[in-house]
Amino acid sequence: MAFLSLQSLGASVRIALLVGLCGLIDNGIEFNRKCSLSDQKYSNNGDVRAFSGRLCDWDTARLFQMLFCNSCDRKSVVKPALDKIYVDHAGHGDTRTVQEAVELVMDGNKKRVTIYISAGTYTEKVLVPNNKPYITFQGSGSDKTVITWNDNANKTGSTYKTASVAIEADHFIAWNISFKNTAPTPGPGIIGAQAIALQVVGDKCAFYGCAVYGYQDTLNDHQGRHYFKECYIEGIVDFIFGNARSLYESCIIRSNLDKWGAITAHSRLSEDEVTGFGFVHCSLIGTGQIFLGRAWRSYARVVFASTYMEEIINSQGWDDWGNKSADETVFYGEYNNNGPGASLAGRVSYTRALSSMEAAKYTHIDWINGSDWLHG
Ligand SMILES: *[C@@H]1O[C@H](CO)[C@@H](O)[C@H](O)[C@H]1NC(C)=O
Ligand SMILES: *[C@@H]1O[C@H](CO)[C@@H](O)[C@H](O)[C@H]1NC(C)=O
Ligand SMILES: *[C@@H]1O[C@H](CO)[C@@H](O)[C@H](O)[C@H]1NC(C)=O
Ligand SMILES: *[C@@H]1O[C@H](CO)[C@@H](O)[C@H](O)[C@H]1NC(C)=O
Repeated sequence: MAFLSLQSLGASVRIALLVGLCGLIDNGIEFNRKCSLSDQKYSNNGDVRAFSGRLCDWDTARLFQMLFCNSCDRKSVVKPALDKIYVDHAGHGDTRTVQEAVELVMDGNKKRVTIYISAGTYTEKVLVPNNKPYITFQGSGSDKTVITWNDNANKTGSTYKTASVAIEADHFIAWNISFKNTAPTPGPGIIGAQAIALQVVGDKCAFYGCAVYGYQDTLNDHQGRHYFKECYIEGIVDFIFGNARSLYESCIIRSNLDKWGAITAHSRLSEDEVTGFGFVHCSLIGTGQIFLGRAWRSYARVVFASTYMEEIINSQGWDDWGNKSADETVFYGEYNNNGPGASLAGRVSYTRALSSMEAAKYTHIDWINGSDWLHG
């Protein structure tokens, strides 16, 4: 009853009370230096949000909110969120490892949290779990900040568990950072050498100026809508694989192959799936004779447009992974590519020479519904 009568007081009186009470327990736990109510995420009518300045520990803040808010949704009250976390391997940041920084982000986070990762090599396996969306990894340059590990499928028992960095959360962004898997290069016929450097399972994830290094299965572009801009990706076989709907713009893709390999192994399973990899204004460089793609699943969909292709591209271009019937169901398109590997003359019969309109469908940000979520 006492609470109810408090609620009938005017907002300014309640805030004054709040300030007074907080002053009394100013020795409460300091949640963090940046803790202020204006940073907190109360989805309520704003009474408490209006108060700014460091308050007190989280439990006290929550109690106050319960006492003083008119109509707040109590369940939605979450801990005060950090919006910047600094990682430094030498100890000059909030944490020394990237994973510890990820753990500092609240479960159910709804506001972008930038994790600044200083120059250096972080030898650790990193998981951004699906209950921590809206995280940004901000590196100091893809040649300076590196996250690296070395699991392969032999060791973990499953390719999907090999990822050095696995992104399971939606709305993840990375800037100017490298992801590596340094498991040894597989020799011919070696089993169990799959070794993912970066695995992206979350939806609406974007990577800018990043580098991804590995050999087999370097980048698992597994599911969701993803954007890769000005990234560098290298490997030897199936090194961009999965069933995501992605756009690769102005990326450099390097094959380190001496023999047989494929850049993409898309795994679209049926005509109903709106998935596929679009590449535009990219460069395909390196060594070997490599296919643009092989059909890991029989509805694989990949388009290359306005892309430079070195001599390394096998003139047939595409491979059906030994399933002739898949020739009818894969969607392998090319448009306006250039360079010595771009000639359509020797391509397999099921290659589609696309018109600019057809190519645009897969190589514009609308392909990934980017105007709804990119830059946000
Ligand atoms: C990323 O790196 C590029 C090239 O060094 C630089 O121009 C750009 O400002 C960087 N952006 C961010 C957000 O780190
Ligand atoms: C994985 O293990 C098998 C059996 O022990 C072995 O033959 C193979 O060479 C191993 N592959 C790698 C990449 O270590
Ligand atoms: C081969 O492709 C056809 C046509 O898409 C598909 O129905 C069939 O399941 C595929 N076979 C295998 C073994 O993947
Ligand atoms: C999202 O993108 C897909 C593929 O381009 C398209 O079919 C769909 O209409 C888009 N949805 C919205 C809401 O724009």
